[in-house]
Amino acid sequence: MSVLLVEDDPSIAMVITAALEDEGFAVTHCETLAQRDAYLREREFSALVTDVMLPDGDGIESLAAVRRDQPDLPVVILSAQNTLDTAVRASDTGAFEYFPKPFDIDELVRTVRQAVGTRGMEMASSDDEQLGDGMPLVGRSQAMQAVFRMISRVLRNDLTVLILGESGTGKELVAEAIHELGNRRTGPFIAVNTAAIPGELIESELFGHEKGAFTGAVARHTGKFEQAAGGTLFLDEIGDMPMQAQTRLLRALQSGTIRRVGGREEVRLDVRIIAATNKDLKPQIAAGLFREDLFYRLNVVPIRMPPLRERPEDIETLARHFLNLAAGEGLPRRTLANDAADLLSRQVWPGNVRELRNFVYRLALLARDNQIDAATVTDMIEAEPGDGDLHSDQAADLDSAVRHWLDTSMPPPGTIHAEAVAALERPLFAAVLRQTGGNQLRAANLLGINRNTLRKRLSDLDIDPDGFSARN
Ligand SMILES: Nc1ncnc2c1ncn2[C@@H]1O[C@H](COP(=O)(O)OP(=O)(O)OP(=O)(O)O)[C@@H](O)[C@H]1O
Ligand SMILES: [Mg+2]
Repeated sequence: MSVLLVEDDPSIAMVITAALEDEGFAVTHCETLAQRDAYLREREFSALVTDVMLPDGDGIESLAAVRRDQPDLPVVILSAQNTLDTAVRASDTGAFEYFPKPFDIDELVRTVRQAVGTRGMEMASSDDEQLGDGMPLVGRSQAMQAVFRMISRVLRNDLTVLILGESGTGKELVAEAIHELGNRRTGPFIAVNTAAIPGELIESELFGHEKGAFTGAVARHTGKFEQAAGGTLFLDEIGDMPMQAQTRLLRALQSGTIRRVGGREEVRLDVRIIAATNKDLKPQIAAGLFREDLFYRLNVVPIRMPPLRERPEDIETLARHFLNLAAGEGLPRRTLANDAADLLSRQVWPGNVRELRNFVYRLALLARDNQIDAATVTDMIEAEPGDGDLHSDQAADLDSAVRHWLDTSMPPPGTIHAEAVAALERPLFAAVLRQTGGNQLRAANLLGINRNTLRKRLSDLDIDPDGFSARN
């Protein structure tokens, strides 16, 4: 079994070669597309493992020709360009698997083994059209890579997708991206907030009604399902949908048809369903608030949006992205100094990306200089009502904050206490350290805990006390 490895970084190439050779593969290594093509002409390989950015071109773009000549050759793509765009382009080539760098070498070896085993069975490439840059979803963390990979897997089919995650994590944006990049992009994208429609209107909203179906139905009305025909129906806040509406929705999904209120005709559904919620549906089901059968209908492909605190490394990228967007919308064009980016990355963002976005827009609007530095960020944080961390409406007091947190966060069973303590400690320690200018001894005294305990917790929580020193 022979693998052709195209990788211009010698150290990565060495690691991969060694790991594959350990598994009994014969590895041929080259560094350019020209060498790749020469090898492919001259020899048979069982798999191709390729980097994307190569000295003489783009490893994905040039794959179309390779796949035309050797449609059965499994291809595994490695990339340091961890964007949604790369994930999508990789999956559009019909590549067996896409690995954002840094990747787990064992997983790579496993995938190559699998790829060789299922040779010829992989999905055919659907279309080679180019998807431009300017992808709406930003993030380079491993957690977001997993999201991008899931998205790329649902673009060429109509599977129902359930997007889960805290408020402000980008659920709606993901739904839009799936629509925009997917097979149904030429059709409409219709979003319905299922929690906002009064119970008695929901049926008519979703399914439509005939003229005269009820008092006030003066004309025929087309429901959201029909409006979305040929496109995507986005059912938002599904966890808050009234029970009766859940039953109707389930029936529609099961039968694949709907009937307008007061109508006879069965209308065939032609929509892709994407649902989203910030509620944890398992306890809702246990409490009898959400139909379990509907959950299984919707939960065909779950996509979990990671909260920002699980990917602080994305904060800087997001902040710069939002400064660009703000400039595009007519706000002053600002740049972000590195110390400001660091400070933003250390903040807690209970409202996730939405809160960060709003904060960055305020910075763009109100900063005095074109370059935003840490002092400007600090000023803005201090100007916020409730001093930054616990300032959402729901968090007005700790009691309701905890209940809100339980409702919206989804710590895995068995970790709730630890997660809750961490969620409380993070803003608490940040506030006290800010007060003491990063002095841990004084912070420990104020808190009334042992200095070593504080130090241990700060390191557990990945909080850098130096970030709160007076200069920052
Ligand atoms: N990864 C991302 N890259 C760029 N912008 C993002 C990203 N995630 C979220 N946003 C932006 O953050 C804001 C909130 O996102 P969105 O409305 O999709 O959140 P949501 O999960 O639907 O929240 P809610 O549960 O409160 O409805 C939007 O302005 C969105 O464009
Ligand atoms: Mg939303």
